[in-house]
Amino acid sequence: MIELSKRLSLIAEMVNEGSSVCDVGTDHGYLPAFLYLSGKCKKVTATDINQKPLESARTNLERLSCDGVKLILCNGLASVTREMADTVIIAGMGGEVIGGIIDRAPFLKDWEVSLILQPTTAAKELRVFLAKNGFTVEREQAIAENGKIYSVMLARFCGAPYTISDTQAAIGILKPDCDDAAKYIEKQYKIANKCASELENVPRKQNEYKYYLKLSEELKNILGG
Ligand SMILES: C[S@@+](CC[C@H](N)C(=O)[O-])C[C@H]1O[C@@H](n2cnc3c(N)ncnc32)[C@H](O)[C@@H]1O
Repeated sequence: MIELSKRLSLIAEMVNEGSSVCDVGTDHGYLPAFLYLSGKCKKVTATDINQKPLESARTNLERLSCDGVKLILCNGLASVTREMADTVIIAGMGGEVIGGIIDRAPFLKDWEVSLILQPTTAAKELRVFLAKNGFTVEREQAIAENGKIYSVMLARFCGAPYTISDTQAAIGILKPDCDDAAKYIEKQYKIANKCASELENVPRKQNEYKYYLKLSEELKNILGG
């Protein structure tokens, strides 16, 4: 059996038993292989925009004798239909790329489709995109791996766009109730605090300074002062 990294294990754990899954930007293909071989999901598709990673997924699937994953070369979900997936995973990409993939796939605007999203950068931009486009985040969990800290979100279409505060954009619905979530919030606090210090004495950047100052104060409060 495949042993997944902590990050991929958390993503796999968020997938409901028996769901039909599409892993977008699969690269190595370990996640779809695990979901199929563990028996958690019987209908599994994986896409990648690039031939080379898709070939590496094919090689790994063959090595693992996993013949139940359908591999597709395409941009995002361009060749995937609603019938193929009720759960879509988009992990290991920038938040803006993830938002673009969601935007170009109208079938995701369905309450019954789960999105499991793990941005490597621009998580803030992704949270703002989700809110603006009527996707609610039901669950969010931070995970530390190899000196990095990630957020994994479980989202779905709720139909009504909503607004989020700057603090919510920075940390989503995370609360400092476990080590990894506290680390994630602490990291956002340090970034905001550093930006505020750097901008404090730059006269033409006073609006940005005020934004980072307020954000860092709010994050500090969340962390318990
Ligand atoms: C860093 S890897 C992440 C692999 C895996 N999802 C994970 O989280 O470990 C990013 C992969 O996404 C693919 N990719 C980037 N943009 C894409 C897009 N628009 N559609 C499909 N795949 C994409 C890349 O080719 C690459 O294989």
